[in-house]
Amino acid sequence: MCGIVGYIGNRNSQPILLEGLKKLEYRGYDSAGVAVFTEQGLKIQKAKGRLAVLESQLVAAPLDGTIGIGHTRWATHGKPSDVNSHPHTDNSMKFSVVHNGIIENYMTLKEELTAKGHRFVSETDTEVISHLIADLYQGDIVRAVQQAVQRMTGAFALGVLTEYEPDRLVAVRLASPLIIGVGEGENFIGSDIPAILEYTRQVYILNDGEMAVLTRDGVELMTLEGNFISRELFHVDWDLITAEKAGFDHFMLKEIYEQPKAYKDTMGSRISPDGTRVVLPEVGMSAETIRGIRNVHIVACGTAYHAGLIGKSVIEKLARIPVETDVASEYRYRAPIITPETLVIVVSQSGETADTLAALREAKRCGARVLAITNVVGSSVAREADDVIVTWAGPEIAVASTKAYTSQLVAFYLFGLYLAQTLESQTTEYIREVIAALRLLPEQVEYLLGQSETVKEYAKHIAQHQSLFFIGRGMDYAVALEGSLKLKEISYIHSEAYAAGELKHGTLALIEEGIPVIALATQEALLEKTISNIKEVKARGGRVFGLALSGNEELGKAVDEVYTVPRTHPLLTAALSVVPLQLLAYYTSLARGNDVDKPRNLAKSVTVE
Ligand code: G6P
Repeated sequence: MCGIVGYIGNRNSQPILLEGLKKLEYRGYDSAGVAVFTEQGLKIQKAKGRLAVLESQLVAAPLDGTIGIGHTRWATHGKPSDVNSHPHTDNSMKFSVVHNGIIENYMTLKEELTAKGHRFVSETDTEVISHLIADLYQGDIVRAVQQAVQRMTGAFALGVLTEYEPDRLVAVRLASPLIIGVGEGENFIGSDIPAILEYTRQVYILNDGEMAVLTRDGVELMTLEGNFISRELFHVDWDLITAEKAGFDHFMLKEIYEQPKAYKDTMGSRISPDGTRVVLPEVGMSAETIRGIRNVHIVACGTAYHAGLIGKSVIEKLARIPVETDVASEYRYRAPIITPETLVIVVSQSGETADTLAALREAKRCGARVLAITNVVGSSVAREADDVIVTWAGPEIAVASTKAYTSQLVAFYLFGLYLAQTLESQTTEYIREVIAALRLLPEQVEYLLGQSETVKEYAKHIAQHQSLFFIGRGMDYAVALEGSLKLKEISYIHSEAYAAGELKHGTLALIEEGIPVIALATQEALLEKTISNIKEVKARGGRVFGLALSGNEELGKAVDEVYTVPRTHPLLTAALSVVPLQLLAYYTSLARGNDVDKPRNLAKSVTVE
């Protein structure tokens, strides 16, 4: 949540800051602002609303200067408003701060500073930082920032400027991501690589507890205590095009269509050429360690949590090890029973989600081995876990996660098979069968993407409704949860996902004439049972859209409309059945005229608990 960008060089900083913020808007977009050194001193422009509002203000009244910081916000402390937007400043207006994260003790600091005569204008925790730095400043901005940080608790990344030292830009990282871009005669800061990729491919990735001092000609890295650090530059070898829309109307649609590639890339060389084994050199667990695993905890948030529900079924079926899946924000506070024989799998697209990171740390504190499934190499989760399986989905920009989710499923299939072959819990023949089905998935997804017309039509129908239901059994239920979340996130239609057999225990009371019910029935072993549940819904007037495996024509007779999904191994159906549900959410959001890529109230990366 919240995006930070900063520039120091010889070019006009305003367009660089705005371009950077556009790349970071996925992190938050309820307000935006920039601070630039101009001939008249440090000037700030900020505005509630999308970045476009700020942009038009800056077109009318440009800020001219070669050093600046910018911010795009996802509100935590204080509602979205002009005054709560970043950058914040102090009463002298000589200091300016952009911030991503939360200062937990800001009220105490605010009281202390108020007693000293500081006057605050916003409801934010960030404003306190600018006042604190101003209060501690004695001619050295680096020292003042270090002292201020020592007084602050919480998680944050900062960009700081002062009019007193117009040739220095200070950046701090404590638990919220921040990278430094190194150019020629110019340097950059950003919450994420795409923000600066247009200008340089050379970056330093700051670790927690580190800071950077940028001038036009150099970057000094140091700890928050002031000890200098030397680090190799990281060369970014991927292209900005992969983070652009490439002709699609929205990032979400582009990312849905990138799934066949994401599946292939995530499988990559992890399947032996003869298709008999899964090869995971990045998992450093010995066979003995694997044999010692007594239980698995999968911990994640949002869509990644839904991938974890499928992961549970896959690992239990393939490896016969008991698995629990938890929402990360609940996990660490429920005193979970974690022992050194517990394998904790954290799943996170961004690798920066605060709740997931906190769960990872709790697991490590209890002595568990932690495996991360993440889409971001070098993210906090990736760095702190013992083993990492990277999902090679490429940058995911739309807030509603699609290709990252399905790549997480592929990672679970691979890891489940890896456990099974090590533990010999399945025959080599069975493992070979699943691998063969896995390899067919990219082409089957291509087929599904070619069938989007039925989904488009159905989307127009449900766009008129205020409420609907998803039902399914077994893994279909886990996919129903994800389909329902996708729809809620971007269409704002109330929807609930129910285990099909559970509906009759209460929720059936909500079924009335014409209410849409989306029934997933791809678990063949449970087909008869699911059909009975569909009939219960039909008998109460529900209008059912069924999702069936091709060949299961009997479902067509029980529902109002049917959409068929190609046949695959029963363990893998989720990787196909979720695709029409992603398209359904997309087209429904479109039909309702919503901002598909930037749904209200949400942010792509949530770095507060
Ligand atoms: C946010 C996003 C969700 C995402 C969740 C977990 O809430 O809006 O789409 O599923 O965070 O994110 P992660 O990066 O940890 O997978």
